[in-house]
Amino acid sequence: MTLRVAIIGAGPCGLAQLRAFQSAKEGGADIPELVCFEKQKDWGGMWNYTWRTGLDEHGEPVHGSMYRYLWSNGPKECLEFADYSFDEHFGRPIASYPPREVLWDYIQGRVLKAGVRPYIRFETVVRRVEWIEERQRFAVSVHDYANDVSETAEFDYVVNACGHFSTPNVPELPGFQSFGGRILHAHDFRDALEFKGKDVLIVGASYSAEDIGSQCYKYGARSITSCYRSEPMAYRWPANWEEKPMLLKVEGKMAYFADGSHKSIDAIILCTGYQHHFPFLPDSLALKTANRLWPLNLYKGVFWEDNPRMIYLGMQDQWYSFNMFDAQAWYARDVILGRIGLPDKASMHAENQAWREREEQLQTAQEMFEYQGAYIQQLVDATDYPSFDIAGVNRTFLQWKDDKREDIMGYRNKSYRSLMTGSQSPQHHTPWLEALDDSMEAYLNPPQTAKRA
Ligand SMILES: Cc1cc2nc3c(=O)[nH]c(=O)nc-3n(C[C@H](O)[C@H](O)[C@H](O)COP(=O)(O)OP(=O)(O)OC[C@H]3O[C@@H](n4cnc5c(N)ncnc54)[C@H](O)[C@@H]3O)c2cc1C
Ligand SMILES: NC(=O)c1ccc[n+]([C@@H]2O[C@H](COP(=O)([O-])OP(=O)(O)OC[C@H]3O[C@@H](n4cnc5c(N)ncnc54)[C@H](OP(=O)(O)O)[C@@H]3O)[C@@H](O)[C@H]2O)c1
Repeated sequence: MTLRVAIIGAGPCGLAQLRAFQSAKEGGADIPELVCFEKQKDWGGMWNYTWRTGLDEHGEPVHGSMYRYLWSNGPKECLEFADYSFDEHFGRPIASYPPREVLWDYIQGRVLKAGVRPYIRFETVVRRVEWIEERQRFAVSVHDYANDVSETAEFDYVVNACGHFSTPNVPELPGFQSFGGRILHAHDFRDALEFKGKDVLIVGASYSAEDIGSQCYKYGARSITSCYRSEPMAYRWPANWEEKPMLLKVEGKMAYFADGSHKSIDAIILCTGYQHHFPFLPDSLALKTANRLWPLNLYKGVFWEDNPRMIYLGMQDQWYSFNMFDAQAWYARDVILGRIGLPDKASMHAENQAWREREEQLQTAQEMFEYQGAYIQQLVDATDYPSFDIAGVNRTFLQWKDDKREDIMGYRNKSYRSLMTGSQSPQHHTPWLEALDDSMEAYLNPPQTAKRA
């Protein structure tokens, strides 16, 4: 009987899984029957921008957390696919920090070439996954909004590729109930122009805080105040950006901070991260973790220890992203195809614990991305995913960290060398702070210089 594999989500992880199987098929392998369920109308996951917030047109929670004018926050050279380079997609080297639409186009280019779209059922949300012990299969229940029908079908494997930066973590602080301005989470932030001329307070000190604050600065907020719970971001911020310790309370429009200072603000943006949230899974199959490099109970960071036919992709905190998802998807594919065996549960658990112990020793950013690189290396070594220069990616991450320390508003003007093709990326035609149009057309084409009469 042909194996059946359900893939939940057609974002970068789900697409990596489809591409991994298609590449095996190209090589002559018999592949399982694949069904990828995607609740949105199109693929690309987080990179498929939506203006919507709250609930979508069907009453489902909006998946997207991306906003207008978002540019990659790390060099594209660190996330490049090893089997499909930026040079191949764009026909020439392009600059190192593409805006969202450019990355979406790149993600799409590989899977269009692979011809995997027919495997995807769009506008179909997975509502429930159950393991049926006596049949040794999963029952996957979905609702197909295009046809407005609910169905249940059986699968031998489930690949959960639904992402974990979609369900917001929303703390409440004293005074929020009666705050005189707007309070929103980063998940619902869409357009920095909304905050032009406003005094904005950002809560949090990680990537969303840094980037949403920078967007507000770039598009004309009057001032930015960011506040941290654990550690400040400590970049050299522009003159109208102050970083303060944690917000304690608000009264009317006044915000009070842990250092005793206070400031009048118009809006609060909670950049307080996301939850791993899988409402379609029973407790026995559900990963429960904070956003960290080594979630427990996932052998090789992928296989649910209690039932390794339940596979998770991309659940780690991410220094590496697209090429890590690929490394995981290729490994998962080879286990499903029987090319790689899994050890017994005790051995899986022991290996898992060893990775967690290493993770707990990590102190610096460099140690963290090198750790994630080492994790990816052992996955890549076990499959036919093209081997790539992980040490080189680590060096690029290190350079990126230095570039950010030097100039937080200018680091995206830098360019790096591809670790896949060796080609040097050109410098972007316009400094990031002046590039207000984030369209692919504007990114790929230098602005027309006015013609002299
Ligand atoms: C604001 C923001 C900016 C980011 N910027 C960068 C960046 O610059 N560089 C970088 O490398 N990474 C960035 N990331 C990380 C980003 O999440 C990853 O690049 C990537 O999108 C993760 O891929 P994924 O497939 O795991 O998840 P997602 O991209 O989130 O895709 C998951 C898919 O699953 C679908 N889905 C969810 N639940 C269901 C269900 N029940 N049934 C059916 N379908 C479902 C969703 O609709 C979605 O299409 C950013 C994330 C955020 C939130
Ligand atoms: N391309 C881009 O430019 C871009 C932009 C935005 C996001 N992203 C991506 O999106 C992903 C998520 O990033 P993220 O910054 O949203 O999440 P994150 O990295 O998980 O960080 C969450 C932040 O919220 C803080 N926090 C959590 N609960 C809090 C509370 N109750 N009170 C105060 N602070 C609290 C955390 O502080 P502690 O340190 O104290 O825990 C941390 O600073 C990352 O992969 C990132 O790369 C990319």
